[in-house]
Amino acid sequence: MKIVQLSDTHISHLGGATTENLRAFVDLINSINPTFVVHSGDVAILDPDQAEDREAARELLAGIQAPLRVLPGNHDVGERPDNAWAGLVVTPERLAAFEATFGPDHWLELVGDWAVIGVNSEIMGSGLPEEEAQWEWLATLPAQIGTRPTLVFSHKPVWNPYPEVTEHNIAIPDDSKARLLAALDGVTLAALGSGHLHHYAVSTETHGDAEILTVSAPATGFAHAGLGGPALAQQGIVEYQLGEAGAVRPFFRNLPTLVEIAPTEIPEFSAALEELGVSL
Ligand SMILES: [Fe+2]
Ligand SMILES: [Fe+2]
Repeated sequence: MKIVQLSDTHISHLGGATTENLRAFVDLINSINPTFVVHSGDVAILDPDQAEDREAARELLAGIQAPLRVLPGNHDVGERPDNAWAGLVVTPERLAAFEATFGPDHWLELVGDWAVIGVNSEIMGSGLPEEEAQWEWLATLPAQIGTRPTLVFSHKPVWNPYPEVTEHNIAIPDDSKARLLAALDGVTLAALGSGHLHHYAVSTETHGDAEILTVSAPATGFAHAGLGGPALAQQGIVEYQLGEAGAVRPFFRNLPTLVEIAPTEIPEFSAALEELGVSL
């Protein structure tokens, strides 16, 4: 069975390179013919309050033939108050606007013999009632999942590959990470997949007696080369091949036809920055 993760589409209602790339990736996803597709957030180009960007993304994503679930990124709903990029903090209004377009911001899907969990990383550390509701929901999952091997997706990674970076929120905060892993105790974690970093990387992390496969999905919109390390800073998607006994193999997939330029060279990105009053 195959599951596809796409991420960080960063769609503008003005079109441009990120739109061209997503159109091509939708065709690639359909040619892979997965059983299920996850979008791990940053659907919209930059501004969570720009409804037209959300709608443009929704229309493009409707081309995906397999069942699709979408998770919010910081550019879709804002993020926790400390270090929030451009001061874009997660609010109930932004969460409601996202859910009205893309459906629930956290979900459980039973796919074949597997379980797939999507969590909203952007409310973690926010103190909003929506955060508490998600913790309560997470506590109900082990009983629903039983012995199924499980994939967990979030926008921000659970394990922080760049703890030395302090000016941006790279990952889920440490206390939320501990709480999330504790809530999933008893669940057979086959892999964790995230977005946000705009590069492809695979690692294993130790949790108790378990070694957990972690995958950072590349962006479809544009790559970030600036974080360093061994990650593959190219645009693409991840195809997860799910085998026997909880075996997961992640594959990087891309296309020869991508528009691969820096975000600052994308006019629609510059226009969105200007609307937000942000200069890089
Ligand atoms: Fe992003
Ligand atoms: Fe992000």
